[in-house]
Amino acid sequence: MKSIIIYYSRTGRTKLIAQTLAKEKNMNIVEIKDKTNRSGAIGFIKGTLDSMINNSTTIEPVTIDLDKYDTVYIGTPVWASKITPAIKQILDNINLENKNVITFVTLNKNGAKEALNSLNSTIKDKGGKIINSFSIITKGRDIESLTKDIVKNLGK
Ligand SMILES: Cc1cc2nc3c(=O)[nH]c(=O)nc-3n(C[C@H](O)[C@H](O)[C@H](O)COP(=O)(O)O)c2cc1C
Repeated sequence: MKSIIIYYSRTGRTKLIAQTLAKEKNMNIVEIKDKTNRSGAIGFIKGTLDSMINNSTTIEPVTIDLDKYDTVYIGTPVWASKITPAIKQILDNINLENKNVITFVTLNKNGAKEALNSLNSTIKDKGGKIINSFSIITKGRDIESLTKDIVKNLGK
């Protein structure tokens, strides 16, 4: 069974989780990059707004051949209790028909349930089968050891 992990990260927390998961479970990994400038305070405010009102964004071109995989991990930070525009964008452009999907969101405190619900229903609409989902509070946490615990729970 081959798996791939697709993620977006603005400040590196989701990236570290994705990289740890990929290493522990020997998976390929693809980072989605948002062409909109999300840095600094203005980037934060624009990110919040774009997520709140479901604005689309432009992502850097990426080729993902999902034919090779039967399980797809999708990870995103929570923005304004929603998923990020970059992940929304890639979901519009990939075919998840008959794929097992494991979703995860990272956050500081609030909105995990809402973001996961929206992520999972978008994936189901695209024919993906959600087999697991989890959320990780990243603020002030040791992300690497946290992710290793998650891997233990997911099983090898
Ligand atoms: C634009 C923006 C909006 C955010 N909104 C929320 C939120 O609604 N709830 C929350 O708990 N954290 C929120 N956060 C915090 C991030 O979800 C959290 O720090 C995440 O782990 C960052 O992941 P990253 O380092 O991969 O970008 C927000 C961060 C940004 C940049």
